[in-house]
Amino acid sequence: MSNRKAEVFIDGNKVMDLPILIDTMENEALDIRDLRKQTGMITYDPGFGNTGSCQSQITYLDGEKGILRYRGYPIEELIEKCDFIEVAYLLIHGHLPSKAERERYTQLLNRHSLLHVDMQSFFRRYPEHAHPMSILAAMSVSLSSFYEINVDEDPELEIDLTVTRLMSKIRTIAAFTYRKMRGSDFVNPRHEYSYCGNFLNMLFSSPVVPYEPNPVHIKALNKLLILHADHEQNCSTTAVRLVGSAGGGNLYSAVSAGICALWGPRHGGANQAVIDMLQQIHDDGGDVQKAVDRAKDKNDPYRLMGFGHRVYKTYDPRAKIGREICEEVLADLGIKDPLLEIAEKLEETALQDDYFKERFLYPNVDFYTGIIFRAMNIPTNMYTVLFSMGRLPGWIAHWLEWRHDPFERIGRPRQLYMGPTARSVPHIDERE
Ligand code: SDX
Repeated sequence: MSNRKAEVFIDGNKVMDLPILIDTMENEALDIRDLRKQTGMITYDPGFGNTGSCQSQITYLDGEKGILRYRGYPIEELIEKCDFIEVAYLLIHGHLPSKAERERYTQLLNRHSLLHVDMQSFFRRYPEHAHPMSILAAMSVSLSSFYEINVDEDPELEIDLTVTRLMSKIRTIAAFTYRKMRGSDFVNPRHEYSYCGNFLNMLFSSPVVPYEPNPVHIKALNKLLILHADHEQNCSTTAVRLVGSAGGGNLYSAVSAGICALWGPRHGGANQAVIDMLQQIHDDGGDVQKAVDRAKDKNDPYRLMGFGHRVYKTYDPRAKIGREICEEVLADLGIKDPLLEIAEKLEETALQDDYFKERFLYPNVDFYTGIIFRAMNIPTNMYTVLFSMGRLPGWIAHWLEWRHDPFERIGRPRQLYMGPTARSVPHIDERE
């Protein structure tokens, strides 16, 4: 809290002082918690672009400078010095694991990696064309039926167990979803593999040809999951916090809400939409200028997917890293993907165009990641499932932070009512 305040005048009369709060990075906020009580007024901020919903110690973004830090550590360093499990541990527990803590965590994740056999039968009941995100969301909330959270006993122990179960089982559910789509038998997790190696083995292991997870894919997947691990109060994390604020301690249902929010093409669903867009440009002869012109046309709902961001008004640091991983993986695998060339040409054309420059529209995390998944033979409708696997520790960290937030209340925004004033109900015979 700073001792500064903002004075509020309405029609020339002073009505109240608003305290000014200041955060670790010296960003300031008007504390409006007493606004309605003192003025009878609310604020109006559709999309919450100017509204802080909580105080958080998890992730820091600077949208103007393109900075992203998890618990103070820059994303660029975490990508180079840690694997996904270390970063998940950091987000959830607030510190990087020691060697012993990391070993213990790996054992716990292995112990809880299997899925109840009755849950496995659920997969077989979905139609072939079922989108994997619909299965993932349903399976996440179904975990609460098979792995009950008994907060009446030792709540913190129960929650810790649930967190570990979810971190491990989301990977198994994601892999089983893919196997179901392929009409293949499920492959259970194996303790000798790492988190990412295990996932790839559950995806691609075959009963008829030997399979070993490609180390290039394992390294790329670790980096991609780290890139997606958290992003402060984005749409899906806000959904997780909002559902959590209703109480009940059901982490599975809150994460299911996060999965549903992430699925949207404006949010995590964009990584699938980017590949569909690049493929369409490719099939249409590779005319990137035509795509840029359509994206600028107000009469055309077409947008450049993977471009623009609510917070970043410069290059998304994750897009920069994503492009480096993309070039690295394709070179390692000796793959020349025409969609990468189109993506780079599209980026170059858009970034020279005033429409994009004036609106600070740059590539975001989703612009290059799909091309990497493609090189790893992962189908496009699984991309947002992988985004969910990456974002899970972030969702969990925010849900846990909400649970211990001294200022937390049930989330319940207000509105400006623009409907009809009071009127009486006409008899049905008198209605047109
Ligand atoms: C993620 O919040 C997070 O942190 C999210 C995320 C995370 O890690 O959790 O980073 C992950 O969701 C990344 C974003 C993925 N989505 C896409 O790539 C979809 C394409 N992008 C957009 O739909 C859009 O940019 C959003 C949704 C990402 C941001 O929307 P905003 O902040 O509400 O911006 P806006 O719609 O008000 O756009 C401002 C202007 C508008 O033009 P004007 O009305 O000023 O003339 O920019 C234009 C928009 O039309 N615009 C675009 C555009 N994005 C914005 N024009 C063309 N193509 C685009 N992609």
